[in-house]
Amino acid sequence: MQERDASPHGFLPRFQHFATQAIHVGQDPEQWASKAVVPPISLSTTFKQGAPGKHSGFEYSRSGNPTRNCLEKAVAALDGAKYSLAFASGLAATVTITHLLKAGDQIICMDDVYGGTNRYFRKVATEFGLKISFVDCSKIKLLEAAITPETKLVWIETPTNPNLKMIDIEACAHTVHKHGDIILVVDNTFMSAYFQPLSTGAKEKHRDRVLGAVEMNFSASLPNFSPTQDMFIFAALGAVPSPVDCYLCNRGLKTLHVRMEKHFENGMAVAQFLESHPLVEKVIYPGLPSHPQHELAKRQCTGCPGMITFYVKGSLQHAETFLKNLKVFTLAESLGGYESLAELPAIMTHASVPESDREVLGIRDTLIRLSVGLEDKQDLMDDLDQALKAAHPTNASHN
Ligand SMILES: Cc1ncc(COP(=O)(O)O)c(C=O)c1O
Repeated sequence: MQERDASPHGFLPRFQHFATQAIHVGQDPEQWASKAVVPPISLSTTFKQGAPGKHSGFEYSRSGNPTRNCLEKAVAALDGAKYSLAFASGLAATVTITHLLKAGDQIICMDDVYGGTNRYFRKVATEFGLKISFVDCSKIKLLEAAITPETKLVWIETPTNPNLKMIDIEACAHTVHKHGDIILVVDNTFMSAYFQPLSTGAKEKHRDRVLGAVEMNFSASLPNFSPTQDMFIFAALGAVPSPVDCYLCNRGLKTLHVRMEKHFENGMAVAQFLESHPLVEKVIYPGLPSHPQHELAKRQCTGCPGMITFYVKGSLQHAETFLKNLKVFTLAESLGGYESLAELPAIMTHASVPESDREVLGIRDTLIRLSVGLEDKQDLMDDLDQALKAAHPTNASHN
């Protein structure tokens, strides 16, 4: 167990050494002939071999690249994982992991997940004979009841996208691993390794911006899966990121801890502001005591990112007018960047989720998802306030 620093708002204390590992693991200048301190972008597609099959660790850039190697080593260290592999996107990582299964196997997926994950499992993976069940894994009894002898993969996101439901990772891992040969994937996109260290014995996935990364720990309880087999599948599919993307992601990792602290500070301020706003129906943010799983969030995470969802009062028309009037927030998909974004999941990120499922999940036309960035928090709150008032001109004087 690593030593810990105190965290604000009663969250799990921060793991010490995170910043040092993010900055130094895998980055040793001695690995380069030039002794470069900033890892160079290695664009070579192939590497000279001393004799057939005798190489320096790199043969061909798809199977291994020096710049990618630096990134993968740092990412693995941050989650305390044995292995890490970088992918061209989060979905490329999802597809590659799914290739570890075979026709007839069942996937249990959290019911409230990123729309692209839902679409891939429902519309593509099923075409290859995989069975998919969407289950509310935040209720461990439902997960337990859904597991069958065919279950080979359990896929969770916590907090979920867009409803920010928290899932107890440890309880999930305990339930899944009781049944033996099942992989548990935790999509850690929203929290990142900084706020939600995945040291639960789960097989893990974490996404960072335009790349995807998979971090893995293998245990003897997964006899059908092994590093060798997984590495073979990953290399055979070839969904690798470019060296330039790896360089950028590796560079971003060095300031992740600083940015996440500011996302937390701004996210908390914006969530509290929205919760007290008369033109807002409801705010969902795991950092707020009003969140139904606030206690779990504090037990499992060291803080909260800038992801907030809320229902604006009124109808689709009010939500659209609100979004149109934002000036500092940009109407766009994606998340976790330095710039603040706002979107309407029902029409944007989650449009591919069937309407009946959206209704059950609460992805209504008035649900707005924010990715709170690093701007001055007062400017962000002023922007939200003026856009809410523009959406409700007759009620604007209430605030
Ligand atoms: C929670 C979550 N998982 C996975 C993905 C997929 O990542 P990518 O867009 O890099 O394929 C996204 C994309 O927004 C996401 O929000």
